[in-house]
This record gives sequence, C-alpha cells and structure tokens, in this order.
Amino acid sequence: MSLFNVYPLFDITPVKAKDVYVYDENNTEYLDLYGGHAVISIGHSHPKYVKNISDQVAKMGFYSNSIQNPMQVELANKLEEISGCKDYELFLCNSGAEANENALKLASFHTDKKKVIAFKNGFHGRTSAAVAATDNPKIIAPINAQQEVEILELGDLVGLEKALAKNDVCAVIIEFIQGVGGLDESTTAFYETADKLCKKYNTCFIADEVQSGFGRTGDFFAFQKFNVTPDIISIAKGMGNGFPVGGILIHPSIKASFGLLGTTFGGNHLACAATLTVLDVIKEEKLMENVKDISTYFIEKSKEIPQLKNLKGRGLMLGLEFDFPIAELRKNLIYNHKIFTGSAKNPNLIRILPSLTVQKKHIDVFFEALKSELNS
Ligand SMILES: Cc1ncc(COP(=O)(O)O)c(C=O)c1O
Repeated sequence: MSLFNVYPLFDITPVKAKDVYVYDENNTEYLDLYGGHAVISIGHSHPKYVKNISDQVAKMGFYSNSIQNPMQVELANKLEEISGCKDYELFLCNSGAEANENALKLASFHTDKKKVIAFKNGFHGRTSAAVAATDNPKIIAPINAQQEVEILELGDLVGLEKALAKNDVCAVIIEFIQGVGGLDESTTAFYETADKLCKKYNTCFIADEVQSGFGRTGDFFAFQKFNVTPDIISIAKGMGNGFPVGGILIHPSIKASFGLLGTTFGGNHLACAATLTVLDVIKEEKLMENVKDISTYFIEKSKEIPQLKNLKGRGLMLGLEFDFPIAELRKNLIYNHKIFTGSAKNPNLIRILPSLTVQKKHIDVFFEALKSELNS
C-alpha cells in the first residue's frame, strides 16, 4: 500500500531529536526553528517528558472517559494557575481542529444559533465547521460548504456589528495572531470592541490559541495582551510537545450537561502526562521569560538584514517578510545550512516557530545563514 500523497515532502528523514535539533539517519544535525509547526514547546525529547511519558505508559497508557481520571483534574488546576484563566472549565480532545470543532459546536448549543463569523486569512483546521471557518476555498469540500460562515476583513468592526445584529451568529472565531495566514494582527480597539459586541449580541467569542497558546507569544495566551474575556479558548500544538492533544477552556457562563461533548481518546492518561510535563517545564524553566528575551534579541538581530521588509508576530511566533517569494530561500536554508523554518499562506514570509527553549546562539546561527543566502 502506498501513502495517500497529500504532502509535498522535503527529502529529509529525521530519526532522532534533542531540544532544538533534529538528526537524520546519517546523523546530520538540523537546527529546528519550525518546531514541527509550532508543536515543540519544551524541546525535543526533554528528559522529564521522556521519563514521565515512559513511566505513565508502563503503568497505564489509556482508559476511556467513563472512569475517574485524577490526572485531568490536576491538569485543569495547573492550567488555571499558569494561564490565569480563573474559573474556566476544561474539555480535552486530540487536535487543534477538534478543539475548534468542539468550540463551534458548543457555541451553537449555547446560543441556539448557527452562523459563524471568521476572518480573512484565518486558519482553524480541516474538520467540518473548523474548515468552513477557514479562509481557504481549496480545502473546503462541498460537504463542508453547507456551514453558514461569513468571512470578514480582519479589523472590520462595521461589518462585524452588521452581521451580529442579525442575531443568527453563534460564534466569532479568531486567531489573535494569525499563524498559517502569515502573522497578521489587528488593533487593540478591534479585539476589545469585537469582544464587547459578542457579549452584546449573545455570540460566543472564540480565541483560537491552537498555535499562539502555551507561552509561545511570551504571554500564556496571545489574547492576554488585550482586555478581553473569550467565551471559549481552543488549545493544542505546544500543549503536548508532540503528543497529540487538544482542548477547550470554557467560560463558566456556558453550562455542561452529560453527553453534550464527548471523545474516546481525549484526555487519556498519556496525553495528560505529556501536558502536565509541558506545564511543569514551562514554569520550572521560566520559558515564557525566555520567549520574551529571545524575541527581543531576534528583533534586534533582524535589523541587520536590509532586505527585510517587515518583521511580524510576537514572542517566538515570528514572520520575516520579504518583497520576493521565499520558497527558494527556505529550501537553501534547509539544504545549505541545515536550518528548518516555516512557510505561510503569504508566499513572501518565513515563519519562525522554535521550541521555547531556543537560545541566542541559535538565533545567531540563523542570521548568519540568512545573510549568507541573501548576499549570495
Ligand atoms: C490557529 C490554528 N488553529 C487550528 C489548527 C488546526 O490544528 P490541527 O492541525 O492540530 O488540527 C491550526 C494548525 O495549524 C492552527 O494553526
């Protein structure tokens, strides 16, 4: 059987990884400034992570959500403490798309409405409602197109209020920093007014923190730079440092009832072991402070690149925008300099999404490589 060919692959085969490095079968070392798409948060193969997951699988890897699982309770408490999101409740699932799917479904149950507002260049996943709320017609199949979704320009408050005033919108879903789209952000006034408008019209404000959450921006959540109170916060990626896990934080105004949401694998013991370890390491190793320090350093170093048109993003969710397509440059960084970076929907933008443990010396290596490519 061959693989269903949906991914254009680089011809590299990583077989092991350690902190910010991955190694191929010939032991060639690659500097990973992509983090497997913003997933690696505490570093590849962190010793505590390896130990805790190994110990857990030796004891019990999985049981379904029909029994008591104190690890989920511990996880919810630790998440509340580190995020500062008081009194929210936690529902665990397995991926970012699933988190947003549950968020949108819950918003619809809660408000008894069904239309969704999303934004231009937003990305929310590939499942039914999540993909319909994603601004990319190429990945929306006819079966998904039945969802009622309106895509607005990021920052369009007039359009937002006009849509909400029709009183048929269950959710406004937004990335406070767009990931896949290319690191665009709107203004404080937009986010804070959008939050107020959602409250005025009984619409759930969903913060998609799948990529930007878990400390990546230097705050635990990207929305925390603003005075907003999302009704639902979706999480995944950095949460499990590679273990597939996702979830939603649910404001106490939304009430649970038996059977409202459910999953077989979500919140299993191994996923909890992975996520608890991530939370402990973020705290113990002061990784959110490291994010801020390294981000400041990166921004300074970027001033040495005259070809750079724009530096976008926050923390370690950064985008280097040029006035030419970066596909060739990115390929050269990989093959000539052994450095992984990311791309975006914006073809002129390189994305930087390293482990939150990355150090200044790694940033130096990147900028030397970038300079040598841009000047060659
Ligand atoms: C902001 C955002 N939301 C949702 C998703 C979907 O997550 P997953 O690929 O885990 O389904 C992604 C993935 O890139 C994302 O960046």
